[in-house]
Amino acid sequence: MRRDLERGFTIWLTGPSGAGKTTLARSLAERLADMGYRVEILDGDEIRRSLYPELGFSKEAREMHNRVVIHMAKLLSRNGVIAIVSLISPYRTVRELARREIGRFMEVYVYAPLEVRIKRDPKGLYAKAMKGEIKGLTGYDGVYEEPDNPEIKVDSSKMSPEEEVDAIIEKARELGYLP
Ligand code: PPS
Ligand code: MG
Repeated sequence: MRRDLERGFTIWLTGPSGAGKTTLARSLAERLADMGYRVEILDGDEIRRSLYPELGFSKEAREMHNRVVIHMAKLLSRNGVIAIVSLISPYRTVRELARREIGRFMEVYVYAPLEVRIKRDPKGLYAKAMKGEIKGLTGYDGVYEEPDNPEIKVDSSKMSPEEEVDAIIEKARELGYLP
């Protein structure tokens, strides 16, 4: 059964590389779609690949790219869609901008300890960073400004994606975004 929300909202998953944002975004999208809601995933890595694969990871590049994602999430949210953003978004000021621009917004800090991220390393990026082959990997030698006041923090080394999804949906209800 399709359940149309009068107003959508944005679930903003922030956290360093390998923390579990993409995995969580997929589980969340599946659950919300099963509940009948319209959802879209905006994944930073995918948007980069399809729009500007050469962009790179300077502060300016990340800020520009993050603003594009804010705009997309805003359009979706105001049209009854639940936008699930999985984006490192390492800068507090940019996440604050997202909160202001989007309005109906919840910030989820997706956390996993460094040793867990290094062990997972699905793309081999931490291995490369440790060998000095790449510089500025977020969560290793690149800046990540931790959220001061996220609506919720999930620790993917202690919780399963299903448990994370449960916690996020409960919070969305508390905030009045879901009935
Ligand atoms: S950002 O910082 O918000 O622009 O990042 P995002 O668009 O989410 O893209 C992160 C993915 O890019 C890959 N990658 C790097 N991430 C961080 N730092 C460096 N130096 C870097 N180089 C490549 C990496 O696969 C990120 O994906 P996730 O899923 O976060 O691991
Ligand atoms: Mg990812």
